[in-house]
Amino acid sequence: MSPTAVPVTTEPRDEAFPAFDRLDWDDLALQLDGNGFAMTPPVLSPDQCRQMIDVFDDDAAFRSTVDMARLSFGEGRYRYFADPLPPLVQQLRTRLYPPMARIANRWASVLGEDPWPDTHAELVEACAAAGQHKPTPLVLRYGPTGYNCLHQDVYGDLTFPLQVLFMLNTPDVDFTGGESVFVEQRPRQQSRPMVARPALGQAVIFPVRNRPKQGARGYHRVQMRHGVSAVHTGDRHVLGVIFHNAR
Ligand SMILES: [Fe+2]
Repeated sequence: MSPTAVPVTTEPRDEAFPAFDRLDWDDLALQLDGNGFAMTPPVLSPDQCRQMIDVFDDDAAFRSTVDMARLSFGEGRYRYFADPLPPLVQQLRTRLYPPMARIANRWASVLGEDPWPDTHAELVEACAAAGQHKPTPLVLRYGPTGYNCLHQDVYGDLTFPLQVLFMLNTPDVDFTGGESVFVEQRPRQQSRPMVARPALGQAVIFPVRNRPKQGARGYHRVQMRHGVSAVHTGDRHVLGVIFHNAR
């Protein structure tokens, strides 16, 4: 290897995500409570986004690939990373988990559920004890007409309640259409649709399955499903970080 060549697997230094230290977690928690999802400022650099798009074609990086049309999930492909995760993905998982766990623990306390561990390493241990060993972070690629049906990313009994997607392309430049769609199913009420249009490097934090909502008589759970509307032109790539592992 020449002295200037840098492999994509190079361990990123801690300062690889300078925007993370500036995230306002109180504001993100307020967005989650009010809208059901939260948008961060751009947190991945254009180079990091490019790196995650390029890895999509590296078969050795993945443990499994899903052709969504074959399973009637939609149209497009997604690939689950194999262990060991690329350093960038591993760092995202471990660095984002603690502030997410603080929100998840507030939710657990108002819903009367068991608390979540403080670190991602402890969550991975708890997943292993529940028979959930396979990593769940993934990259998704949608071409023209690609879409993703409304769903929830549950992979076993242990389901950490929040997940994150990172937009890897520039909307309206690299692709058109392809909005992130959320539907909140409220008990005994009609469902609420919401749309997010994250920019390059921006993250969207959203519930995996449900979240607490305050009503007149305390908190209740509202169900949330997410999907992607049809891409009209170009290719749309997203990195998905789910914190629990799969059975
Ligand atoms: Fe999903």
